[in-house]
Amino acid sequence: MQLTKNQLEQFHSEGYLLLPDLFDDTEVQVLREAADTVYALDRQEVFRESDGITPRTAFAAHHYNEAFRRLGRHPRLIRPVEQILEGCVYMHQYKVNAKAPFTGDVWQWHQDYGTWARDDHMPEARAMNIALYVDEAVEFNGPLWIIPGSHKQGVMEAGHDLQTTSYPLWTLDKKTITELIDEGGIVAAHGKAGSVLMFYSTLVHCSPPNLSPWPRTVVYLSLCHVDNHIRRFKRPEWVAHRDFTPIETMPDDCLRELALECEKTAA
Ligand code: SIN
Ligand code: MN
Repeated sequence: MQLTKNQLEQFHSEGYLLLPDLFDDTEVQVLREAADTVYALDRQEVFRESDGITPRTAFAAHHYNEAFRRLGRHPRLIRPVEQILEGCVYMHQYKVNAKAPFTGDVWQWHQDYGTWARDDHMPEARAMNIALYVDEAVEFNGPLWIIPGSHKQGVMEAGHDLQTTSYPLWTLDKKTITELIDEGGIVAAHGKAGSVLMFYSTLVHCSPPNLSPWPRTVVYLSLCHVDNHIRRFKRPEWVAHRDFTPIETMPDDCLRELALECEKTAA
């Protein structure tokens, strides 16, 4: 799969690109079941909200779940990023973010590369996210908010927020965010389940709490050019990976194959 000239132009000027309906219902269903399975595990990689119970995010799920392993090598996610970053990529981080009904908490305003540079000493912003919506993201269930064009600012000053949620993050202050929004506005990245959002690692984004009865699970692959691998190993391996091997993609139907295998086993 290759992005068109128009798609590339939108990505570079706005800092993000939404690809609707890239995965079908069968593929999404496999991943939804996989998310329930990993959230039920008692593992250090599964962060809970401040209540200590509700799942917030499952790190490195591609290491302990077959569906997520396949998604982490899926050509529909890997190829467009290889195209943009111009070369082979490795998995810097893998998250299955829950944003659970009624309880899913905020992710404060931040740039991902701000954390990767400060904590992991990633040399350049030659890395990015590609996110798959496992549930529909609507107005009410805590969709990602992004500031179009904010990726052009480079890495901005940030403070280390260790308090607001159960997950530490380098966050931007209110004055900076106000100025950026005066210029670029805010877009809520709504999309149906199966849609894919790709965005620059310097794009400023956040997400509000989910007070609705609907879940909002999103899988984030943070992919980095192999030459740009991290130089510092301060965070646990399952948060910031240390295997810089280029990702080899699987066949395009690998998730549908898994769904078939599961059906056969169940019959
Ligand atoms: C993130 O920005 O890393 C996560 C935001 C979200 O899933 O809402
Ligand atoms: Mn982020």
